[in-house]
Amino acid sequence: MEMSKPAGHNALDDNRQGLIGKPLDRVDGRLKVTGRATYAYEYNEGGQASYAYIVQSTIAKGSIISIDSAAAERAPGVQLVLTYKNMIAQGPKTKESSPQLHDEKITHFGQPVALVVASSFEQARAGAALVNVRYQQDAGEFNLNKAKVHARVPPPNQQAPDATEGEFEAAFVAAPVQLDVTYTTPHQSHAMMEPHATLALWNGDHLTLYTSNQMLAQAQGAVAKTLQLQPTQVRIISRYVGGGFGAKLAIQADAILAAAAAKKLGRPVKLALARPQVFHVTTHRTATEQRIRLGTDKDGHIQAIAHESWSGNTAGEDFYESAADQTRSLYAGANRKIAHRLSTLDLPVASSMRAPGEAVGLLAIECAMDELAEKLNLDPIELRKRNEPSQDPTKHVPYSTRQLVPCMEEGARRFGWNKRNPKPGQVRDGRWLIGHGMAAASRGNFLRPSKASARLDGDGILTVRMGMTDIGTGSYTIFTQIAAEMLGLPPQRVRMLLGDTEFPAAAGSGGSFGAASAGSGLYDACMALRGKLASAAGFNADSALFANGQISDGGQSKPLVELVGAGLEAEGEIKPGATLKQFSQQAYGAHFVEVGVDMDTGEVRIRRMLGVFAAGRILNEKTARSQALGGMTFGIGAALTEELVVDEQLGLFANHDLAEYHVATNADVPALEVVFLPEVDDKANPLKIKGIGELGICGAGAAVANAIYNACGVRVRDYPMTLDKLL
Ligand code: MOS
Repeated sequence: MEMSKPAGHNALDDNRQGLIGKPLDRVDGRLKVTGRATYAYEYNEGGQASYAYIVQSTIAKGSIISIDSAAAERAPGVQLVLTYKNMIAQGPKTKESSPQLHDEKITHFGQPVALVVASSFEQARAGAALVNVRYQQDAGEFNLNKAKVHARVPPPNQQAPDATEGEFEAAFVAAPVQLDVTYTTPHQSHAMMEPHATLALWNGDHLTLYTSNQMLAQAQGAVAKTLQLQPTQVRIISRYVGGGFGAKLAIQADAILAAAAAKKLGRPVKLALARPQVFHVTTHRTATEQRIRLGTDKDGHIQAIAHESWSGNTAGEDFYESAADQTRSLYAGANRKIAHRLSTLDLPVASSMRAPGEAVGLLAIECAMDELAEKLNLDPIELRKRNEPSQDPTKHVPYSTRQLVPCMEEGARRFGWNKRNPKPGQVRDGRWLIGHGMAAASRGNFLRPSKASARLDGDGILTVRMGMTDIGTGSYTIFTQIAAEMLGLPPQRVRMLLGDTEFPAAAGSGGSFGAASAGSGLYDACMALRGKLASAAGFNADSALFANGQISDGGQSKPLVELVGAGLEAEGEIKPGATLKQFSQQAYGAHFVEVGVDMDTGEVRIRRMLGVFAAGRILNEKTARSQALGGMTFGIGAALTEELVVDEQLGLFANHDLAEYHVATNADVPALEVVFLPEVDDKANPLKIKGIGELGICGAGAAVANAIYNACGVRVRDYPMTLDKLL
């Protein structure tokens, strides 16, 4: 089905079994905690595998003069040393392909320059240490601020990088109240739990990759393009993924190199990135510099709003951090300017990391709003209310749903916002200065094409197949709930098969579009299967009801298992359609934070945190809450600790492990409270849901930053807010 008009009342609205929204435990939870959920590196298909280890470039820019692999080749257990000289045939580098060991050129530190394959992991690693590479080294640029002078306008990402409305410059100069501030955010790492890993095996000219990936159909296409195969010659299996956060949206070096080595050796090859390799071999989030200008009248009505953002990427890469995107639609204002610029940095490739754009964009705009509120002597919530737009101020279309104000009001009530002292540095608890801050959350909502199949057999088991992934978010569980509810079966009767390109191509997990897209494809397949069951029963498909394993219509009921014969199967598909352009679609929320700042050391501790969100219908209260908790935790890290520190002599990330790249851990995170407001978005998709995966992070760090300012009166515009910046 195509999303070409708002979804009317539909099969899911009835929720006759009450499964939609229910806080069902994860259906794969038991498998995971007992170690029986098999991750990529744990497969042993195809017989005894060889083990591969990547040799990385020790320079950031230049070229390889020579590679001496003789010592490595003689080392115990070593079967193969792969370099650009003996790499298998590959296509050229394009947006969709990612050739490895392509030529002599080095574009960033840590780039794979050789692969050593041996009988064991230890032998491969020992062999890797014996590969001797000589380089010719060029000077590189590793500093975003310095690289700004060469910034260019990047090609469109989701939308054009620049947008203007009215006359920003004139309106800003004329505004009675003006704010002009620049915020910076550092390079960040996804730091997901499971490093990238692949088991590659060939059967003739057909390649199977057990790999850890978020978007299988895209990966299949990328591997095929890179290795000059047809997509049908490539099968990707990714049944469980230990976190991705964007680092596994695209296929990475492990998959291509394992495939190449397996081809050369004629046997399966396993390749996992060692943790320190993840930081340079794969992607990260680029640093940004963001200038925000806000001009208002004396009452705080925005007359001019500008958000300009600079980010960086490796030469030849077009991805930029779309940090100003939410400013297109977040607040009213007739005169607007949005601009994104991209500079070349000789660092590893930058790409999407959780809530690409918003996550760091809101760290700037939502703190700027706090600064503006203080300038106007207005409560930050009141300032936002005065700038609530009646329609999208850039697209000039209505919002599908927008509950920013209700989120702020509900949050204020629950948090006790009215007890906050707006004057910084006034509240003490022993040696702690106490502060309270808030920020808005806003995240774009997307729908992507996605297919599914659903089959009911005589044993009463409904089998669903989708080339979809569960990256730890709860996909297996919510799709089980949808399928069970649609067919009137208990969840235990649903067999949810994901993670295989042999299944109908699904959207994959990314951009918070996974549940809505794959869920809608599944909805469509279930509708088709209901139609087949109704016709087998001799009932009217439009009025028939499904519950308790029965189909009923006009006072008659029949057990489903009696209708399926040798099995009934149906396929379904969702396609984005016209509706998506007729409405501005975002999920919204509001974050509230209480911090303590140590008056002597500047140490910051989060004391409590509340997030109130409105994101369409909620499919599972428990997994949705977990998504919000994870996002808020990311926000704490972004505000306080997360930073890839660039060594500008060597052009590398100095802190490339989890001991020194500090993500927020239990000791950093207090009890978090999450509330979802009732909402149904019938413009979004037939499930009437919105993406929630990345909503929790959006604005969370800004609320922390605003609370820190309220605690101690120090406004830091340079993330992360480590204690040295507060003293
Ligand atoms: Mo997300 S950064 O699209 O996995």
